[in-house]
Amino acid sequence: MRRKVTVVGAGNVGATVAHRLADKQLADIVLIDILEGVPQGKGLDLLQAGPIEGYDVHIQGTNDYRDTANSDLVVMTAGFPRKPGMSRHDLLKANYEVVKTTIEKVVTHSPECILIIVTNPLDAMAQTALRVSAFSRNRVIGMAGVLDTARYRTFIAEALKVSVQNVQGFVLGGHGDTMVPVPRYTTVAGIPVTELLPPQTLEAIIRRTAGGGAEIVNYLKTGSAFYAPSAAVVEMIDAIFHDRRKILPCAVYLEGEYGIDGLFVGVPVKLGARGIEEIIEIKLSPEERAALHKSAEAVKELVQIIGV
Ligand SMILES: NC(=O)c1ccc[n+]([C@@H]2O[C@H](COP(=O)([O-])OP(=O)(O)OC[C@H]3O[C@@H](n4cnc5c(N)ncnc54)[C@H](O)[C@@H]3O)[C@@H](O)[C@H]2O)c1
Repeated sequence: MRRKVTVVGAGNVGATVAHRLADKQLADIVLIDILEGVPQGKGLDLLQAGPIEGYDVHIQGTNDYRDTANSDLVVMTAGFPRKPGMSRHDLLKANYEVVKTTIEKVVTHSPECILIIVTNPLDAMAQTALRVSAFSRNRVIGMAGVLDTARYRTFIAEALKVSVQNVQGFVLGGHGDTMVPVPRYTTVAGIPVTELLPPQTLEAIIRRTAGGGAEIVNYLKTGSAFYAPSAAVVEMIDAIFHDRRKILPCAVYLEGEYGIDGLFVGVPVKLGARGIEEIIEIKLSPEERAALHKSAEAVKELVQIIGV
């Protein structure tokens, strides 16, 4: 039997997640939104691409949470995207209400699902989802690190004129300006990147990575990135559904790991059938650890405002 994925929010990220899931035939898909007609129209359009693309998965658009019942996995993209000049902080209160109310409905109908949270501000919204669902922490995962790392890998590959597939690394911390790329653990075909790029180039890449979301918002003006974000979500779903035990940077609720307790922060985790199978604790230098803690402080400020 095919898996079932519900995507909450049929906007740019949500609809593109549905598109990628269908292309990869990973699951039957329910697309749900507060707007009447939009998820139905996009769902039907995606379904009708099936005969051309050769996928048999079923795609349904709806406004009724009963249609989402018994989903194996739910992707939360509902909310408002950033507009130019708007920080992720500005989004906090508006999206808190959206995530709270939609997660309540989702978990009533799919009590066993795994939740992947995308809505910004990411770490605070993931923490909202954890509290509202009362799920164990292995089933509530925030998507940010895979995207931030993809941006970081893209810029390194461009600077070295090598394949993106050669570049391995990860970005830690909260999803925001305080994110922490770790050049010490970044390799290009096994070669430490610090041996291939001068420090000033790496610093420029790190700055560009941290501002990667804003760079796209400034171009688009009326919305934020969605092609790379949706690809990141689908990589996580693929790892879970195939029980790949793939190590990916994800936002996860830390309970003492890295000296951080009671907060969602991006760290490397092993993703498999149960969601987060393991939190990987890597050794950090005092500077890297301080940067991670600074990033965690930024997340703490937000969760205190909304009281989750
Ligand atoms: N974590 C990340 O790395 C990352 C990356 C990209 C986008 N995002 C975030 O993802 C979210 C979605 O971005 P987008 O570009 O798809 O925005 P979008 O505006 O295109 O889509 C959002 C959709 O949510 C729907 N929605 C609003 N309130 C709802 C509710 N109560 N119930 C159901 N649906 C509701 C809207 O009608 C809209 O269709 C934003 O918060 C954005 O900031 C996060």
